[in-house]
Amino acid sequence: MPAALFADKAVAAKIHESIRAGVSWHGEADIKTRDGKIIPAFVRADIIRDNAGNPIGIFGVFSDITERLAAQRVLAEERERSARAQRLESLGMLAGGVAHDFGNLLTIIIGNAGILQSMSATLPAGAVKRTNEIESAAWRAQELSKNLLAFARGSAPQLQRITLGPLIAEAAQGAVRHASVELTLEVAPDLAAVKADPVQLDQVISNLCVNAVQAMSAGGRLRVAAANAAGWQGPSSGSPFDRPVVIVTIADSGSGIPAEVLPRIWEPFFTTKSKGTGLGLATVYAVVKKHGGNITVESSRDTGTTFMLTLPAIKSEPATPALAADDVMLIG
Ligand SMILES: Nc1ncnc2c1ncn2[C@@H]1O[C@H](COP(=O)(O)OP(=O)(O)OP(=O)(O)O)[C@@H](O)[C@H]1O
Ligand SMILES: [Mg+2]
Repeated sequence: MPAALFADKAVAAKIHESIRAGVSWHGEADIKTRDGKIIPAFVRADIIRDNAGNPIGIFGVFSDITERLAAQRVLAEERERSARAQRLESLGMLAGGVAHDFGNLLTIIIGNAGILQSMSATLPAGAVKRTNEIESAAWRAQELSKNLLAFARGSAPQLQRITLGPLIAEAAQGAVRHASVELTLEVAPDLAAVKADPVQLDQVISNLCVNAVQAMSAGGRLRVAAANAAGWQGPSSGSPFDRPVVIVTIADSGSGIPAEVLPRIWEPFFTTKSKGTGLGLATVYAVVKKHGGNITVESSRDTGTTFMLTLPAIKSEPATPALAADDVMLIG
C-alpha cells in the first residue's frame, strides 16, 4: 500500500509494520483520493499468501465512510440537544419550586417589616432606616421570584395571527433608546404571518435586543431583520424545518460571547453581569420552544453576536382576496 494514499503517513507505516509482523490490519484512516480530496475511510489490509503460506502481497480494501460519520455526528448532536432541553426543563422546575417557597417567606419578611415601620415612633432613627431597607430589598426579591415563577410555569401562549414587523420595530427601538447604538431594521415587506402570543414574543425580541445593547457599552451597530424562508436547515443544533418559516435575525457588533460561556447562556440564573438575573435567555428559550420555533446563536469576539429565531409561518392567504363590501357592484 503506497504511503501517498494516506493523509497521515504514520498510518501507512503502522499498516506496513503490522503486515510485516504477519498480522492483517483494519481501522479508520483518512485517504487521499486521486483528485486530491481527503475522505474518511474504513481500511482493511490483508496478507496474500501462496500455497505454501509465504506472504506474496497485500490485499487492501477501502470503504468511504463519509456518510456514516456524518450520520453519527447528527445523532450525537441530536442527543446533546435533547439532553440540554431536559436539563433546562428540570432546572426550570427546580427554580419554580424554590421561587414559590421563597415568595411565601418574603411575604412574611415584608409583613413584619411593615409592622415594624408602623411602630416607627417608638424606634430609634437608625432602626427605622434599616427597616425601610429591609422592606425595599424584600420587595425587589419578591419581584424577582415572581419573574422566576412566571418563567418556570411559562404561562401558555395566547396564540393569534400576527405579522411581526411592527412588534419587532417597537421592541428594537425601545432597547436602543438611551444607547449610542445605530439600529438597522430590515423587515421584508411581504413578511408572512405567524401564530404567536404578541406579549411573549415582544418579551423575546426585547430580551435579545437589550442583551445586544448591553454587549455594546461603547456603542456599536444592531441589525434586526425579519424575512421569509422556504425552510430552515441551519446548524444541526436546532431542529430543521421543511416548511415556510419566518426568520428573525438579531445581530450586534458587541463584545461577543466567549466559547466557554456559550453553552451556558440558556440556563436560568446564568449571568456574567453584576446586576443580571440570568433569566432573560432562559425565558426566550422557553417561549420559543412553546411556539414550535427554534433559536440558535453564533458569536465571535471580532464580529459580535447573532441570534437567529425561526418560527413556523402561517400559509399565505389565497391569491385573490375576497371583495370588500364597498367593491361589490350590483348588476341588475
Ligand atoms: N448579545 C450578547 N452579547 C454578548 N453576551 C451575551 C449576549 N446575549 C447574552 N449574552 C450572555 O449571556 C448571559 C445570559 O443572558 P441573559 O439574558 O439570560 O441574562 P442577563 O442578561 O445576564 O440578565 P438579565 O437578562 O436578567 O438582565 C449574559 O450574562 C451574557 O454573558
Ligand atoms: Mg438579558
